[in-house]
Amino acid sequence: MNTIWRENGTVESTGQERGESLWVQKQFRYDNQQAMEQAKRPKLQEDITTDVTVIGAGMAGVLIAHMLQENGFSVVLVDYKEVGSGITKNTTAKISSQHNLIYQKLISNKGQERAWEYAAANQMAIEKFEEIISLKEIDCDFQIQPSYIYTLDNEDKIKQEVEAARKLGITAVLTKETTLPFSVKAAVRFDHQAQFHPLKFLDGLAKSLTVYEHTRITEVRDDGVVITEQGRIKAKSIVIATHYPFINAPGFYFFRMHQDRQYVVALEGEDINKKAHLDGMYLDADPQGYSFRNYKDFLLLGGASHRSGKNNPPDAYAQLEAEAGKWYPNAKVVYTWSNQDCMTPDSIPYIGRYSARTPNIYVATGFNKWGMTSAMVSAMIISDLIAGRKNEFQKVFYPRRLMFSGSKELLKDAAVVTINLLSEHLRITHDKLRDIGPGEAGTVLKDGMKIGVYRDKYDKYYFVTTKCPHLGCSLEWNQNELTWDCPCHGSRFDYRGNLISNPAMRDVFDACQRKRK
Ligand code: FES
Repeated sequence: MNTIWRENGTVESTGQERGESLWVQKQFRYDNQQAMEQAKRPKLQEDITTDVTVIGAGMAGVLIAHMLQENGFSVVLVDYKEVGSGITKNTTAKISSQHNLIYQKLISNKGQERAWEYAAANQMAIEKFEEIISLKEIDCDFQIQPSYIYTLDNEDKIKQEVEAARKLGITAVLTKETTLPFSVKAAVRFDHQAQFHPLKFLDGLAKSLTVYEHTRITEVRDDGVVITEQGRIKAKSIVIATHYPFINAPGFYFFRMHQDRQYVVALEGEDINKKAHLDGMYLDADPQGYSFRNYKDFLLLGGASHRSGKNNPPDAYAQLEAEAGKWYPNAKVVYTWSNQDCMTPDSIPYIGRYSARTPNIYVATGFNKWGMTSAMVSAMIISDLIAGRKNEFQKVFYPRRLMFSGSKELLKDAAVVTINLLSEHLRITHDKLRDIGPGEAGTVLKDGMKIGVYRDKYDKYYFVTTKCPHLGCSLEWNQNELTWDCPCHGSRFDYRGNLISNPAMRDVFDACQRKRK
């Protein structure tokens, strides 16, 4: 299940997600029944006043609340569901300043000064994790490890990244030696990076915070009042840390972000024990490549990445399993899950004031698949802004920055939106309902209207309108998740039409069913 925001201002969880990550498995998250009970937090039942309200209790929200509290502010953290139950529960939880091959790109697109801010902020974020975990004595399987970006074909781009990182003060090592089950052309290694169990960390940190879970927000007001179903929170500042910002205007973040999906399998077995104990975390520089990290006796293999709603792989989990089978023939898949990330045109998050018109509202979003350190950077910057202090890294993350360097990506995004708006009435995949195979989906014309149909294995049909309620793009079927996904900004709906992910704020079955009556 997933937290979504609706156009009437309410927040709900209705859509179905397939597959649960390793992190949510009780046996890895809680040491005992008592720890599980302690992780249950109350629901807001009354009116309260605080200095800051933080909305969204994922990694960013919890860290922002923690850092503000450390700065002497009273803070209330509120979430419709539970701590870490959104994007955080599906991360691969790598704490790294090595964000693919970003530094060469940042220096040439933004200049050395901005690139340094990005590098220094993310390096500092790793140290902050270490400091908090040690000071608070949080048992979260934290391990210092090197991080590698490798290539199978282009040594030059790795060499350039090594040079760029060194210019920015990062100790980057060029190597061909890895513990991967295949040889690489080259790799760049950053030492002293880290990995952990993200939910154990959040549970540990949230113990000292005021958190209200299962609390539905019905309105966020400019004057600092957040209205929930059973109480109001009056604050001087509000922070929106909800993965995708749910206030469309002002801010207009949906014009400047799309979402990418990726899939993960956790493998175990004799081959993993013998051959897959890696010395660090690995990621292929090629977007179609794979990522690797260990957790206890498991290997987490990620990949099959694509823009949400576009180029959906026919079977991402089978693809990952087949790849794993080449390297570890005696390994078996024990958990499968997927995640979705907000991608910005210039690959830099938006952290700071939400908009010029809302000076007391702040935002942290667009983490470009690097949520752990980006969440910590958000906490450092937003706590300084609210405290009225200057933050030395703030400029590069400024949410209303000009996008010259990202203009190509912005144009690409605009083209995807235009094509998908125009194609809503095209692409009818089947002439008749019965042409759709059991367990598959397609689009047919019914009463002159295009509808999406999923036929389950018992021959029950589920109908949806394929026009996304956000801005009207045409939804695409995702066979891996049995969902209808929007290529424009990443809204998702289960096969019944229930909304799973924003920015759309309503389901897609109502209009269709009304029309069919
Ligand atoms: Fe924006 Fe679908 S998510 S049009």
